[in-house]
Amino acid sequence: MAISVTGKIVITVVVLGVLAGMSTLIYFLVTDAAEEVVPVPTTEPPGVEDSDMRYRVGVGIADTTGPCVEIAFMGYAEVFQTGRGIHLRQFSRAFIFESGDTRVVLVIADIQAVGIALRRQVVTNLQELYGDMYSLRNVIVTGTHTHSGPGGHLVEFLFDITIRGFSSETFDAYAEGITRSIVRAHENIVPANLYYAQANVSNVHMNRSPYSYEYNPEEEKARYDGNTDDTLTQVRIVREDGNLHGVLNWYAIHTTSMNMTNRLISSDNLGYAAITMEKMLNPGALPGKGGVVAGFFPSNLGDVSPNTRGARCEFSGNECDNHFTICDAGERCFSLGPGDDMFESTKIIGHAIYEGALEALNSPGEELTGGIAVVHQFVDMPTTTGTRYDPITQVFQSNQGVSGCMPAMGYSFASGTQDGANTLNITQGTITNIPILDAIAGVPGRPTEQDRACHAPKPILLMTGRSNTPLPWHPRIVSMSLVWLGDFAILGVPGEPTTMAGRRMRAVVGNIMEQRGYQPRIVVSGLTNEYIHYVATFEEYQVQRYEAASTIFGPHTLDIFLNKFAEFTRVAIEGGDVAAGETPADNRYRTVSLILPVVADMSPRGTAFGHVLHQPATSVARGDVVQAVFVGANPRNNLRQESSHAVVERMELGQWTVVATDADWETRFTWERLSTLLGTSQVTFEWQVPEDAILTEYRMVYYGTSRQPINRLSNFTGITNTFTIDAPALF
Ligand SMILES: *[C@@H]1O[C@H](CO)[C@@H](O)[C@H](O)[C@H]1NC(C)=O
Ligand SMILES: *[C@@H]1O[C@H](CO)[C@@H](O)[C@H](O)[C@H]1NC(C)=O
Ligand SMILES: *[C@@H]1O[C@H](CO)[C@@H](O)[C@H](O)[C@H]1NC(C)=O
Ligand SMILES: *[C@@H]1O[C@H](CO)[C@@H](O)[C@H](O)[C@H]1NC(C)=O
Repeated sequence: MAISVTGKIVITVVVLGVLAGMSTLIYFLVTDAAEEVVPVPTTEPPGVEDSDMRYRVGVGIADTTGPCVEIAFMGYAEVFQTGRGIHLRQFSRAFIFESGDTRVVLVIADIQAVGIALRRQVVTNLQELYGDMYSLRNVIVTGTHTHSGPGGHLVEFLFDITIRGFSSETFDAYAEGITRSIVRAHENIVPANLYYAQANVSNVHMNRSPYSYEYNPEEEKARYDGNTDDTLTQVRIVREDGNLHGVLNWYAIHTTSMNMTNRLISSDNLGYAAITMEKMLNPGALPGKGGVVAGFFPSNLGDVSPNTRGARCEFSGNECDNHFTICDAGERCFSLGPGDDMFESTKIIGHAIYEGALEALNSPGEELTGGIAVVHQFVDMPTTTGTRYDPITQVFQSNQGVSGCMPAMGYSFASGTQDGANTLNITQGTITNIPILDAIAGVPGRPTEQDRACHAPKPILLMTGRSNTPLPWHPRIVSMSLVWLGDFAILGVPGEPTTMAGRRMRAVVGNIMEQRGYQPRIVVSGLTNEYIHYVATFEEYQVQRYEAASTIFGPHTLDIFLNKFAEFTRVAIEGGDVAAGETPADNRYRTVSLILPVVADMSPRGTAFGHVLHQPATSVARGDVVQAVFVGANPRNNLRQESSHAVVERMELGQWTVVATDADWETRFTWERLSTLLGTSQVTFEWQVPEDAILTEYRMVYYGTSRQPINRLSNFTGITNTFTIDAPALF
């Protein structure tokens, strides 16, 4: 997609940096131009021969890596956490299920969250190819919630502030990658059967707001083991020849093993689990190039941290919770993972999730045999009403009406969490008003008395729902979905439900399924179709820790979901449909941005682009880190989706063969600007030699694209000297 840059209006917005813990004055350019979307005639779906298999299923994986440098990462709201390269590439994995004339697409992308604008673009792209076979109703897109990917793709204003506005480069990269994964799945639909399985994965996550969790009713808590869900849920897709076609896994964990100091794109712990499983299922294939696809979806992860050592003060090492135990002035409270550094933590957590998925894959599982249905509705949260769900009796109280509120964030949103802390002296659990913060609340829009009452006891920090300048700050009409996949229910939640919020969703849907004779096979799919921050329970909401302060539609947000999911379940079982709801406004062409384009690249005097500044050692051993430095150019000039900025090659039968790319765990690709004025830069490529590497000759190759002023791009290649991996000397 190309965003036209006509009709720019300059808007100045003062953002008191409550998001990032700093003051930022930001000027935005408003783009205001519509583009024509020309629909192309429908093509026929791929033919599927007669078969005894129950379903028709397609799987596809595509590289969706965004601009790896200079664009801020989405997740920790750190303006200065801009990209410097790639550790793991971002992938989009698509699964298409069809039965009778119902078709549904489930996508899991290595992205913090996917909003309506991006999903709309993907659907637009698909409709150009396939007509109305795909729509906002049956294309369901989930983000893994990695906090280590470039942002600026969510059009709502608040989400892009710490990215310095909308990034068309990120948006286009994600739209193209997701679309390509769905096209690939569309092209390889085969007859298949589905099997459901579960496994327990423990010791890889912890509840980061146990104080909130404790506020849930005793009777309800007694029904569960612990304050996190340890169950990994899986659906595997088996082809007619008995071979595996693909596998979907859901697990409740934040993809925040990589912390806010990380500057390399990473798909984090769930991404590690996915590429590790795909490596095992596709022997010899490079990352993202195998036929069997393994998706790892986040579940009810709201209050679930992978940083299992718990929260400590940065300098003193004292325990802290940023609530009752507070660190000294200027000292942050954050938690570390189980490893020695964040890379090792990512690997440890990712590997444990992979092992759980493997255990489920090796279990017999239960065959799914029912039909497929998609129930989807756009729900205008502030105007939606329902009845209160009593978690003790597990019955909706028909005499107790509830409704949503206009979106707003509470104070404790600004305190952050132990997965990404800041130095602002705002503790979690604040429920009394502070005048200076109330002044900030007026920046986007002033809360009315009704807003304050609706959100109580949440003190309002940002009244996002009352601001449309320069465009809406938050979504208010959100997508809710239930996919019925052969008597297995997938609940699409457009945010991050806490552990108990997710359990309540499963309890409501499970009761209805059991009453109608179905086994309660249900999974909560968080971060699906939209980003609305958190969904905490009513009880958790009362104590206003971070997750509750970020429950933007007020205390009854969860109850609205429960009412809707109860209705959706009945419809999925009994047939019929729900009202489509009002489609959210299309703001794709009203975006604002401060992000500067790449102007030009230069190589330092006397060197050419790709020139090797530092050669790898001539002889290395397994386990060593090999490093080369090249005269570089800005990788934003060419994102090289489906290929690589750099690779490691091995001499095999007289030919150089790629053995590792910039998508592999063992490599790190880093770009560094040397002079902004001259446009010079350098690239470092590192490879940790695997323990099973063949002892022979290797080299590194860097693929770059440089920009001359007036937008002329040229490709170049840098190749290192050959090095050998040698056997370790025996004493
Ligand atoms: C997971 O652990 C619970 C007990 O903690 C047990 O009841 C359940 O059967 C286990 N599930 C699997 C799939 O092993
Ligand atoms: C932070 O705020 C608390 C009250 O919420 C106060 O007691 C403490 O002194 C403050 N610390 C600093 C460093 O301002
Ligand atoms: C991030 O992780 C590194 C280790 O990789 C650690 O040194 C640092 O303190 C962590 N920072 C935060 C804010 O979590
Ligand atoms: C540079 O390489 C890319 C592939 O990465 C290709 O699409 C493009 O056409 C090439 N550009 C030039 C000027 O050769």
